[in-house]
Amino acid sequence: MSQTTQPAGQAAAQATGESVVGAGPRDRYAVIGNPIAHSKSPLIHARFAEQTGEAIEYTHLLAPLDAFVPHVRAFMESGGRGLNVTVPFKLEAHALATKLSPRAAAAGAVNTLRFEAGEIYGDNTDGFGLVRDIEVNLATPFKGARILLLGAGGAARGVVLPMLGRAPHTLTIVNRTAEKASELVDQFGEAAREAGCRLTGGGAAAIEPGTYDVIINATAGSLDAALPEVEDSAFGNSTLAYDMMYGAQPTVFMQHAQTLGARAADGLGMLVEQAAESFYVWRGVRPNGAPVLEELRRILAAPSAT
Ligand code: ATR
Repeated sequence: MSQTTQPAGQAAAQATGESVVGAGPRDRYAVIGNPIAHSKSPLIHARFAEQTGEAIEYTHLLAPLDAFVPHVRAFMESGGRGLNVTVPFKLEAHALATKLSPRAAAAGAVNTLRFEAGEIYGDNTDGFGLVRDIEVNLATPFKGARILLLGAGGAARGVVLPMLGRAPHTLTIVNRTAEKASELVDQFGEAAREAGCRLTGGGAAAIEPGTYDVIINATAGSLDAALPEVEDSAFGNSTLAYDMMYGAQPTVFMQHAQTLGARAADGLGMLVEQAAESFYVWRGVRPNGAPVLEELRRILAAPSAT
């Protein structure tokens, strides 16, 4: 992958076929990361702009690993209105923001930047995207549910507060390195009390008897086809097993859950719904994620999809 930067102007958007609705000046947004060429965000936001009639263009921006901040500043100073931030820059975006939403502060990471009046507003829509995908697209309510969260890295931390906001009965956080799960239990203890949720966690021994309603894999294990340690008895016929990863094929975690009788879903819907929430943060208009999710699912299932 070359280390050149994708220009973010209108000409570049036209060149890459990512420009969107309307004539005249359009507000500029982009997704910044490394690597970034295969990001689905430009397509998703182009569809949202078509749906809502918002006059925006949205491109992708490759930043060298040691030059995230100058790239953000250059985009901002050239009139850009906001950025999505992806791997590996979410922590740097958190540090760069001059103002944080409560959910970004709790996550310790930022995936959405909005530039306004000299301020860099940092938000995190990942957890909202997960909750919306599970509750709306997969019709599985969190309220009163028993939830098992596998993993205690950045991806897990980002979703805890939005999940607690839906008042589950129990949230168990389990991680290979038990102390990291215990740290999250401490960090979110107050929020859990306020939500009336029993929050526990640690190593695999912290998994409670009986089946869970929702089991979420937030470990990086799916990247190398590793299955996180979970008791088979945690999965039942009414369990939704959700992997934050996605790909053309079901992940090993999804396949394992299905052999135990559970329903399984990947994280493609989370990707779309976090984007919809970012769009709302920027534009104050909420697009409909469902048709875009359907389109992406078709693209992913096509024989040429990687
Ligand atoms: P991310 O930001 O994607 O969450 P991270 O902060 O590096 O990345 O966290 C990776 C998570 O995946 C951690 O919970 C990690 O467990 P440890 O804290 O014990 O390292 C988990 N993980 C990675 N590979 C795993 C594997 N093969 N089995 C189980 N858990 C794994």
